[in-house]
Amino acid sequence: WVLMVTAQTPTNIAVIKYWGKRDETLILPVNDSISVTLDPDHLCTTTTVAVSPSFDHDRMWLNAKEISLSGGRFQNCLREIRNRACDFEDKEKGIKIEKKDWEKLHLHIASYNNFPTAAGLASSAAGFACLVFALAKLMNAKEDQSQLSAIARQGSGSACRSLFGGFVKWIMGKDEKGSDSLAVQLADEEHWNDLVIVIAVVSSRQKETSSTSGMRESVETSLLLQHRAKEVVPKRIVQMEEAIKNRDFSSFAQLTCADSNQFHAVCLDTSPPIFYMNDTSHRQFSTNMETCFRIISCVEKWNRSEGSPQVAYTFDAGPNAVLIARNKKVAAQLLQRLLFIFPPSSDTDLNSYVIGDKSI
Ligand code: DP6
Repeated sequence: WVLMVTAQTPTNIAVIKYWGKRDETLILPVNDSISVTLDPDHLCTTTTVAVSPSFDHDRMWLNAKEISLSGGRFQNCLREIRNRACDFEDKEKGIKIEKKDWEKLHLHIASYNNFPTAAGLASSAAGFACLVFALAKLMNAKEDQSQLSAIARQGSGSACRSLFGGFVKWIMGKDEKGSDSLAVQLADEEHWNDLVIVIAVVSSRQKETSSTSGMRESVETSLLLQHRAKEVVPKRIVQMEEAIKNRDFSSFAQLTCADSNQFHAVCLDTSPPIFYMNDTSHRQFSTNMETCFRIISCVEKWNRSEGSPQVAYTFDAGPNAVLIARNKKVAAQLLQRLLFIFPPSSDTDLNSYVIGDKSI
């Protein structure tokens, strides 16, 4: 027999960024963060986990290519779920697995991302969240979403936030073992459904400095990071929660843009400096950077000319712009502006994804 579970998990975009760990193994952050989870139809990971007595070792395929499972992060997540596995019985199929048997059974895992892996579009977030959720269902673990988020966190920090839809906060926690470092939902998917997220894919190439090593270097060398974690983020978290609660787009946009800019300032304050708004391994270095700066400047000018913010921008550890429009009408205008500034041509590698509303 083969027992199988398939799950689908969207990625999330941080509006108050996680950058820096206080514990690298347990993945405990130096500050709280807040994100918005995208619609499941776009940018998501689909993972099937299967168990069978005929499997002789654990195997995993990512986008149809077999990958090694020796990594500590994967093993940590698997161990945590196995520890919580419960008895399972399907009388019809004649399958009975006792709690103690899960240790001996091997897994086959197939995972598929419908967007570029490791291009700064938070693929590890959706990936680990989906893996942990699917494994927990397969092994009949009884944990709730927040408890599962603390396990997904050990795969990739940002993954803990993808266990929920809507707006999500990752509470950094105080416990040395990380028991209170988990995600909670601030508002569900319906709370603020006027927002439309447009992702301008400037480059879909794999990033040069991974988030993991980038944030390690920032923790070791950036004084701005210390200031940000202690003085800036705690206040911003309170303000952002308030903005989300009141659907106050002006505050939301102002905080989102400021936090993205400060995150990239911390990267520049790192020694050696990290530039995420480009793709240095590629001859499009300057084109990518220029594209990012032109997007920022377009949004800033537009917001100023309207007297109040219409669009917020945020960039993660890659050159792709995540643009959050206050409503559908603004999203349509945004797409027009983007297409006007970046007409389809050979020297700009810009494709637009529209998230949240398929009619545009
Ligand atoms: C810039 O979660 O990818 O996207 O915990 O080392 O796996 P690890 O890092 P990761 O870092 C994400 C950083 C970010 C900001 C964010 O998502 O909060």
